[in-house]
Amino acid sequence: MPEPLIARTPEELRAATSGTVALVPTMGALHAGHLSLMEHVRPLADTVVTSIFLNPTQFAPGEDFDEYPRTFDADVQKCATAGVDVIFAPTVDVMYPAGLDGTVRVDPGPLGRILEGEHRPVMFRGVLTVVAKLFGLVRPDIAIFGEKDYQQLTLIRLMAEELCLGVEVLGGDTVREEDGLAMSSRNAYLAREERALAASIAAALRAGIDAAAGGEAAALDAARAVLTGHGIEPDYLVVTDPDLGEARPGEAARMLVAARVGSTRLLDNVAVRLGGSGTV
Ligand code: PAF
Repeated sequence: MPEPLIARTPEELRAATSGTVALVPTMGALHAGHLSLMEHVRPLADTVVTSIFLNPTQFAPGEDFDEYPRTFDADVQKCATAGVDVIFAPTVDVMYPAGLDGTVRVDPGPLGRILEGEHRPVMFRGVLTVVAKLFGLVRPDIAIFGEKDYQQLTLIRLMAEELCLGVEVLGGDTVREEDGLAMSSRNAYLAREERALAASIAAALRAGIDAAAGGEAAALDAARAVLTGHGIEPDYLVVTDPDLGEARPGEAARMLVAARVGSTRLLDNVAVRLGGSGTV
């Protein structure tokens, strides 16, 4: 596979892209989940761009910005195997010419204040702002984000639609380890015994799926029992409709969980179909 071209500036980026452009935004520390997004859009585009930018504005002071894994050389090799044409790896100055406290920011609105937004109040503002900038710089026709970060994907879809950004936003399936743990760059933080425990988050969601025929309460009870059995107290465990609104009996829904294993905060979610009664 040819090495992707590395663009550091908007000018280098513009010179390297043509035809239908697909963008896979990342913060680096690439894993099989990212590669599956690249492979998903490869047949849909003339130019596949992966951005690698560890975005400071989506981390609050005291969060893991400093510890976040930085693996650029290995990331380039992985992009090559996934058929990426261009890696856009800008500096902070390129992305934030007016500084990190610059004046214009994207407000995620009410859906950005629930779930993750409640626990990480600055995050979605930073995510939507950097993604809007990436859309402006890369000018993609298509952009793809992992379903693992389901609320992020939902908000980016809404932003693209409501701000008429002219980008088709796709979601890519969550890629899992053999024991079900959703792949995430933050899994690298898990110590050995925590890594084993972390699989119980996916097991809880599977229990929720299995119990969902009995309704929302049954699904939540089953999932919570698995977490409690492993001594895990979630930040949240909820069932919503696919747009993060109220779930309805008998309809497609989403079960979302966030929980700390040791000091590592992990997210996961799955599609569920609720039984008709809504309760057990
Ligand atoms: O999901 C991520 O890796 C980041 O939040 C994103 C979308 C690349 C924005 O920095």
